[in-house]
Amino acid sequence: MAEQDVKDAFKNLSKEKKEIDASKKLKVAIIGTGWIAEAHIEEYKKMPDVEMVAMADLIDGKAEAFAQRFGVENVKFYKDHKDLIDHEKDLDLVSVCTYNQTHAECAVYALDHGVNVILEKPMCVTMEEAAEIMKAEKRSGKILSIGFQPRFDPNMKQIKKIVQSGMLGKIYYIQTGGGRRVGIPFPYGTSFLEQKTAGIGSMGDIGCYSLDMVLNAVGYPKPLTVTGYTSNFFGTNPNYAGYVQSGHEDYAKIFNVEDFAAGFVRLEGDIILDFRISWAMNMDTTGDTIILGTEGGLKIPSAECYNGSFDRPLKIFHNIAGNPVETEVPLSTEPEAAFYDKIRSVLDAIKEGGKTPISSAEIIYNQAIIDGIIESAKIGKEITITVPEI
Ligand SMILES: NC(=O)c1ccc[n+]([C@@H]2O[C@H](COP(=O)([O-])OP(=O)(O)OC[C@H]3O[C@@H](n4cnc5c(N)ncnc54)[C@H](O)[C@@H]3O)[C@@H](O)[C@H]2O)c1
Repeated sequence: MAEQDVKDAFKNLSKEKKEIDASKKLKVAIIGTGWIAEAHIEEYKKMPDVEMVAMADLIDGKAEAFAQRFGVENVKFYKDHKDLIDHEKDLDLVSVCTYNQTHAECAVYALDHGVNVILEKPMCVTMEEAAEIMKAEKRSGKILSIGFQPRFDPNMKQIKKIVQSGMLGKIYYIQTGGGRRVGIPFPYGTSFLEQKTAGIGSMGDIGCYSLDMVLNAVGYPKPLTVTGYTSNFFGTNPNYAGYVQSGHEDYAKIFNVEDFAAGFVRLEGDIILDFRISWAMNMDTTGDTIILGTEGGLKIPSAECYNGSFDRPLKIFHNIAGNPVETEVPLSTEPEAAFYDKIRSVLDAIKEGGKTPISSAEIIYNQAIIDGIIESAKIGKEITITVPEI
């Protein structure tokens, strides 16, 4: 393949936007009206076929204030997910925007009551919960889509297209992860910092995106074994730069999730996955993502992959007539609408009887790697990953 052909192969990835039939409205609710719920409500407000009917939050008055802030009227308010689902009988869809520790109970309760679910990432905290969610999905026959919006980003789609084109040959090694130097998140409180709300730290917040990026590109092979490491030297230190700069040194006392994690994972198909993620470290980056194949290699610039934003092009390392060459794949100029598409894709699937956009059958492997890293780190040796068949 000549260099220009390589570039042309990944053009025209943008899709036509469809007309939305607003004659029948879907009844939608939001469970958990914190930070990410803001992105959900912004997108729902753009959908002419959505009627926002209810919101719930454990914190008294929070859902009411949220609705007011976003100018949403005629919604009912509830004290938690059960209260909302028990009282709203004709719901079509809920967005579960709660912290990680309540993902499973909210998703299972909604599915068991016949309601389709957009579940924020990470899927949940433990493999037991992941299995319970998948069982509920199966019994209900409803749609459950996990909230990885980068799947809809044009640059992220290019990665999968490049790998799936076969031009890299057999993939045998992947390095991914990345992270931040000073980036433990607490813009809206401490729900990311504690076991009782977050359950998992940097892996649940940003690591799961890096894993999804590469696993989705290579077709979500099953993870087989993992050697994992986790630490929290920064989050537990009152002198951590992020605390000192914001006057939150007291957060060091409550921090009890991981702020750094690494895993060496064997995947089905003889692929090695070398992964690390950081909320805080004494380094600028843990490196770019690289996907090595027998015919070519793909370099993906280290990025905050929650929004798919790269500031440098992808680079393919390959050979032409015996000469090693490097081909840059230009960044997409398509306007970003990943979060809109994450929600739209579920609404369309409900209306058209389509397939779930981001399926639990894939994301359970993502969860299994996170869970495996935590378990392996606890006992200090490699473990076999067991993924329940559901
Ligand atoms: N997709 C993204 O880009 C993105 C970005 C940030 C966060 N997230 C994910 O979204 C989730 C929420 O994060 P956040 O930053 O909005 O957290 P947050 O703490 O700001 O908000 C969570 C809210 O859920 C409420 N809640 C918890 N359990 C509930 C229940 N059973 N019923 C009703 N309300 C309940 C809490 O009271 C809280 O107000 C996390 O899982 C996080 O990983 C996704």
